Amino acid sequence: MVNASGLLGVVLLARHGDRLEFFQDPNTYTPTESYITPLGSVQEFQLGTYLRAQYLTPSSPSFIDGISTDLVDVNQLYVRADAGGGGSVILNSVAGLLQGLYPASEQSSITLANGSAIVGPLSGYQYIPVHSVEPTLVPTLNSWTSCPAFDSHVAAFYSSSAFQEKAQEAAPFLESLTPYVGGRSTNFTNMWNMYDFVNVQYVHNQTFYDTIPPAFPQIASYYASFHEDGVFTDESPDGIGNIAARTLLPLAFAALQDISDETNPLLISLIEISYKPFISLFNVMEATLNGSDIFGIVDYAAAVALEVRDDSYGPRVSMMFKNGTSDIFHPVKLFGQQDLLVEELVERLAWSTVNTTQEWCHVCGQTTSVLGCSNYVQ
Ligand SMILES: *[C@@H]1O[C@H](CO)[C@@H](O)[C@H](O)[C@H]1NC(C)=O
Ligand SMILES: *[C@@H]1O[C@H](CO)[C@@H](O)[C@H](O)[C@H]1NC(C)=O
Ligand SMILES: *[C@@H]1O[C@H](CO)[C@@H](O)[C@H](O)[C@H]1NC(C)=O
Ligand SMILES: *[C@@H]1O[C@H](CO)[C@@H](O)[C@H](O)[C@H]1NC(C)=O
Ligand SMILES: *[C@@H]1O[C@H](CO)[C@@H](O)[C@H](O)[C@H]1NC(C)=O
Ligand SMILES: *[C@@H]1O[C@H](CO)[C@@H](O)[C@H](O)[C@H]1NC(C)=O
Repeated sequence: MVNASGLLGVVLLARHGDRLEFFQDPNTYTPTESYITPLGSVQEFQLGTYLRAQYLTPSSPSFIDGISTDLVDVNQLYVRADAGGGGSVILNSVAGLLQGLYPASEQSSITLANGSAIVGPLSGYQYIPVHSVEPTLVPTLNSWTSCPAFDSHVAAFYSSSAFQEKAQEAAPFLESLTPYVGGRSTNFTNMWNMYDFVNVQYVHNQTFYDTIPPAFPQIASYYASFHEDGVFTDESPDGIGNIAARTLLPLAFAALQDISDETNPLLISLIEISYKPFISLFNVMEATLNGSDIFGIVDYAAAVALEVRDDSYGPRVSMMFKNGTSDIFHPVKLFGQQDLLVEELVERLAWSTVNTTQEWCHVCGQTTSVLGCSNYVQ
C-alpha cells in the first residue's frame, strides 16, 4: 500500500564529501585544485542511502507521492553540481550520492528481439544525468569569486572591530597551533586555510592525529566558522556578503514552483554545492534549530531539504537539516515558522535575488571580460 504523505517533492542541497586540502586565497576566495577521497565517496553514498530511506521508501512518512522507487525516472529528478571550488570534488560527490539514492538494479534491463535479457553494466548501474554548473559560464553556484564588491566586503570584515577582537582572542591559540599548520600563515585572515589543513591532516595523517593536542581541531573549527560566517553573510538579504544565496535562490524557487505544479513531473531537485551557500542561505532565511541561529561551516555530506507539502491554502515548504554523516534530519524554522507557503518564501526573498549574469556583473561591480560582463558596460 502506498503511504499518502502529501509530500509533493523536495529541493535538496548537499555538500561534497571528504577531500584533500583545499586552499582558498583569504582575500578573493580564489580556490586551488582539490580531490575527493574514497571516504568522501562513502559519505556521499551514505547520504544518498539516507535520502532514499526518507523519500523513496513507500513506508516512510516522507515518501514522495508518485516517485519511481527503484528505477530512476529522469523526468522526476533534476541534478546540478557546482563544477567550481577546486575542480571535480563536487561533481564526483554527487555521483556517489546518486549511487545511494538509486542503487544498481537488476530491473535496469531490457529484453531484446532475439529473446535475450540484458542487464546494464555493474549489475544494473543507473546513469543519471548531472548538469555541471561551470563557474566560467555562469555565476550561479560560485558567485563569490571574481566579484570585486565581494572582495571589498571581505576586506571590510577583516578591518571590522568584531574581526579584530576575535583575532586577538584567537592569537594565543594560533601561536600554539603554529607547529601544526605546515608553515601556513597564522594571520587570522588565513583562518579557513589553517582549519582546512588541520582538518584534512587529522583525518588522513596518523602521525598528525597522534601528535596534535586533541582539542585543537575543534577550536580551529570554531574560529574558522566565525571567519566564514563573517565572510558569507551580510546584514541585509541583498548585501553582497549573501551573494552565494542570492544566486542560488532563483534555482531553488523555480524548483519549488515546478514541484508545486502537479502538471510538472519534477519531484526532486538536487543541487550539490560547497559549504558557502549553506551559510548565506541559513542567514537570509533566518534559519533556527532548537531556537538558535544555525551558525558556521556545515560538515562534509551535510544536507538541507526544502520539503513541499500540499495544503488547502496552497503548497507549503519546510526545511530539514542534517549536518554530516552521523547526523539525522532536524526540522529547521524559517523566519520563526515551522513551515510557510512557497509563495510567501518567494515573496520574502525574491527582491534580493540575483537572477541573471548581467545582474551579477552589476552587483559585483565586475566590468571586465569575466563571464562576459564587459558586454553589459555601456
Ligand atoms: C541476442 O542479441 C544480443 C545483442 O546483439 C547478443 O549479444 C546475444 O548473443 C543474442 N542472443 C542470441 C541467443 O542470439
Ligand atoms: C594579515 O592579513 C591581512 C590581509 O591579508 C593584512 O592586511 C595584514 O597586514 C596581515 N597582518 C599581519 C600581522 O601580517
Ligand atoms: C603528517 O604529519 C606529520 C606531523 O605533523 C608531518 O611531519 C608529515 O609531513 C605529515 N605527512 C604528510 C604526508 O603530510
Ligand atoms: C533540540 O532540543 C531537544 C530538547 O532539548 C533535544 O532533545 C535535541 O537533541 C535538540 N536537537 C538538536 C539538534 O540540538
Ligand atoms: C556541524 O557539525 C560540526 C561537527 O560536528 C560542527 O563543528 C559544526 O559547527 C556544525 N555546523 C553547523 C552549521 O551546525
Ligand atoms: C528575480 O526572480 C524572482 C523570482 O524568482 C522575481 O520575483 C524577481 O522580480 C526577479 N528579479 C528581477 C530583478 O528581475
